[in-house]
Amino acid sequence: MVYDLIVLGGGPAGYNAAERAAQGGMKTLVIEARALGGVCLNEGCIPTKTLLYSAKIYDYSKHGEAYGVRFGAASFDHSFVIDRKNKVVKTLVGGIGGALKALGIDVVKAAGKITGRGPEGFTVEAGGAEYTGRQLLICTGSSASVPPIPGLRESVASGFGMTNREILDLREIPKRLVVIGGGVIGLEMASYFNSVGSEVTVIEMLDHIGGPTDREISGVLQKNYAKRGVRFLLGAKVTSVGTDRVNYELDGKQESAVCDKVLISIGRRAVTAGVGLESIGVLTDRGAIVTNDRCQTNVAGVWAAGDVNGKSMLAHTAYREGEVAVANMLGKKDTVNYLSIPSVIYTNPEVAAVGETEESAKAKGLDVICKTTTLKMSGRYVAENEGGDGIVKLVVGREHKNILGIHMIGTYASEMIYGCAFMVDRELRVSDVKKMVFPHPTVCEVIREAMFGIG
Ligand code: NAI
Repeated sequence: MVYDLIVLGGGPAGYNAAERAAQGGMKTLVIEARALGGVCLNEGCIPTKTLLYSAKIYDYSKHGEAYGVRFGAASFDHSFVIDRKNKVVKTLVGGIGGALKALGIDVVKAAGKITGRGPEGFTVEAGGAEYTGRQLLICTGSSASVPPIPGLRESVASGFGMTNREILDLREIPKRLVVIGGGVIGLEMASYFNSVGSEVTVIEMLDHIGGPTDREISGVLQKNYAKRGVRFLLGAKVTSVGTDRVNYELDGKQESAVCDKVLISIGRRAVTAGVGLESIGVLTDRGAIVTNDRCQTNVAGVWAAGDVNGKSMLAHTAYREGEVAVANMLGKKDTVNYLSIPSVIYTNPEVAAVGETEESAKAKGLDVICKTTTLKMSGRYVAENEGGDGIVKLVVGREHKNILGIHMIGTYASEMIYGCAFMVDRELRVSDVKKMVFPHPTVCEVIREAMFGIG
């Protein structure tokens, strides 16, 4: 049988695109080497959120006193949390399998490799069989980057070092955890292990945590975690990893952090090796597939969505990219607006952002007004956050007062940011948002209130 579409990889980009394609009438095949749901569902977004929710409940038990609630001595069962995480993942992976089946999508559980082009379409080998598709959507995702720092790869082999994959199956809470890389994965895991009792040290080569996060916001986040005992070594370069320590250079001096486990969270790389791209001439740049804003590659009929194109590396971007690719296959012009994709760091407090930061706006030479407002303007925030120091920050074009970016740290930030993404995507002006009514009492009211500070 010749498929209308073969999707290589069943993560958020792949399974969602397959569903849209089937709904659009395309006979679709998904080829997945590991488990449906990809990194997001099996070793990323969902498992970490499951762990972090347990940590949040544990944190509440420790701080209930401030709200007039006294708990007995709470204890934390990490192994139970891992079992529950596995149950959550199993339920959701099963859900995807069911949804694909209901739409008549075929699924092959094997590693697929593109082998070339025949008279009827692209050929892909998987599990000893050959499949043909008129169109091809490559969604092979990304894997943790483990650069050739002396001892780093050996540490993963011995179990002393872990990537996002291994750490989510750890059964014991390490007494001392070193996190290499203060980006999204590093901070979320530092948050969890700090809450459940590890001594956590974050080694970051830049002079700030949170990568491209607005500096004012990442500063508040760092202050929160430093207060809770996380040690941040900024501007520190890891030089080697031993069997019980991480060696680094800081201010020209060689230092060591002795620990029981090491998390390697220094970025991810697109998975394109072994996919057979060369057999049909798909162009890559530094290992990632080159795509345009319709998710087309340089080869007609071949598309790529999700982490494999190296553009945004977020599950929600992957969903959208997969949908855009399928829409275009079905003859509807659609494009991804990369400027209005929100991002979240699920620490406690949460960080959420969309659009230009103060730093990125300045780097682009944009004339902007930046306005920071405390979340304490919200009655609900004050009621629920003793001593909270959350903020929302607006980045607005000076001339037209158009909303270019919104950044926040505090309760519910992850759930509020979609509305801000809408404002940025639709190029709303401050005056548009002022005319909207926000529910009271909520934390999101501060976003509207902040607009009045712009003038
Ligand atoms: P990242 O790119 O977010 O952060 C990596 C950090 O490591 C950077 O701050 C970088 O300066 C630092 N670094 C690089 N090399 C280093 C070295 N040799 N020594 C010390 N520091 C070094 O990468 P991360 O945290 O691994 O996450 C990977 C991807 O997964 C990201 O693209 C992220 O978007 C995605 N992700 C998203 C989540 C979310 O949306 N909540 C959660 C987890 C991952």
